[in-house]
Amino acid sequence: MKYQAIKLIKRPGVHITPDIFEAVTLDTPALEDGQVLVKQTHMSLDPAMKGWMSPDKDSYIPPVELGDIMRSSGVGEIVESRNDNYPVGATVGGLMGWTEYYVGDGKGLRILPPGISAEEVLCVLALPGLTAYQGLVEIGRPRSGETLVVSGAAGSVGSIVGQIGKAEGLRVIGTAGSDDKCRWLEDELGFDKAINYKSDNLAKQIAEATPDGIDIYFENTGGPVQHAVFWRMNAHGRIIVCGMIADYNTDKPSPGPNWLNIIRKRLTIQGFTMPDHWDNVPKMTEALIGYYKAGQLKYRAHTLHGLESAIDGINLLFTGGNTGKLMVEL
Ligand SMILES: NC(=O)c1ccc[n+]([C@@H]2O[C@H](COP(=O)([O-])OP(=O)(O)OC[C@H]3O[C@@H](n4cnc5c(N)ncnc54)[C@H](OP(=O)(O)O)[C@@H]3O)[C@@H](O)[C@H]2O)c1
Repeated sequence: MKYQAIKLIKRPGVHITPDIFEAVTLDTPALEDGQVLVKQTHMSLDPAMKGWMSPDKDSYIPPVELGDIMRSSGVGEIVESRNDNYPVGATVGGLMGWTEYYVGDGKGLRILPPGISAEEVLCVLALPGLTAYQGLVEIGRPRSGETLVVSGAAGSVGSIVGQIGKAEGLRVIGTAGSDDKCRWLEDELGFDKAINYKSDNLAKQIAEATPDGIDIYFENTGGPVQHAVFWRMNAHGRIIVCGMIADYNTDKPSPGPNWLNIIRKRLTIQGFTMPDHWDNVPKMTEALIGYYKAGQLKYRAHTLHGLESAIDGINLLFTGGNTGKLMVEL
C-alpha cells in the first residue's frame, strides 16, 4: 500500500516557505516483530515547529534532520500490529510526523482513553492542556483572588490557561490580536477582560484592566504586551515564559524589559517546555478531564484538510489566521 508523507528538505529563512518541504509517496513496509502500523487521522500544527525546522542544535529538542519526515504530534488508529501492547483498533497519540501512516515500535505512542474524540485530545488533553496546566498550576501556583494576564489568549494554550485561571478563582485578563477573538474570550470563555494588543494605548488598557496589579503573567507572545505587563507586576509576582511567538519570524528579536523590576518586585521568571514534564502527564490529564467534564474548558478547533494543507497552513499560526487549535484532518 502507498501513502503520502512530507519531508523537510531545507532550513527555513525568516518565514516558512513551501520550497523547504517535499511531498513523497512511500510504500508501507512489512512489519517486523514488535512494530505497529498507525493510520494517522489528525495531525497537530504548532508554533514550535518553526524552531524544530531551524538548525539550532542547542535547544530543548534536536532539529528535524534534512530529508526526514517533518516532526509533529498527532492521533491515529492502529491498523496492523505485531506488538501485544498495541492492539489493532486502539487509538494512539504521539509524535508521528507529517505522514498519513506511521510505523514504529510503540515507543512514544500513548494509548488514548476510549470515548474521547481526536479533536478533544488535540485541543484539550494533549499539548495545549498539558502546557497550560504545567505552566499555570505547577509553576505559577495560583491563589484564588489573584490577577492573571495571559498573552496569546485566544490561542490553543492561552485559551485553556485563562479558563483554568477562572476555574481556580483568578481575575483573568487576556490579550489577543483581533476584536472578534477578544469577544469570544469575554462572551464565551468568561474572561474578565480581553484586550486587542493591536489597538491604541495598550499599556493604558492593561493598567485599567488590572487595578490591583498583576500577580501572574503567562507569556505566550513577547512583544509589546510583555513590556506593558512587566511594569504592573506585583511584589512576588510570577512570570511563566511559555512562548515568544512575536519573535519566531524575525531575525531581530525584540529587546526585553529592564531587569530592575525583577529586584524591586522580587519576581520569579521561569521558562519551561513540556518535554521536561512527561512524568507529570497522568496527573495533569486527570485534572484536565475534571475541568472538562465540569464544563470549565471550552475549545475551538481550526481544522485544515489533507496532508499537503500543512505546508501553507502552518503559517496561519504566525499571521493570527487560526481561530482555535490548528490541526490537519487526514
Ligand atoms: N513551552 C512549551 O512547552 C509550549 C508548548 C506549546 C506551545 N508553546 C508556545 O505557546 C504559544 C502559543 O502556542 P499555541 O500552540 O497555543 O498557538 P496558538 O496561540 O493557537 O496560535 C498562535 C497565535 O499566536 C498569535 N501571534 C502570532 N504572531 C504574533 C505576534 N507577533 N504577536 C503576538 N501574537 C502573535 C496569533 O494570535 P493573535 O491573533 O492573538 O495574534 C496566533 O493565532 C507559542 O508561543 C508556542 O510556542 C509552548
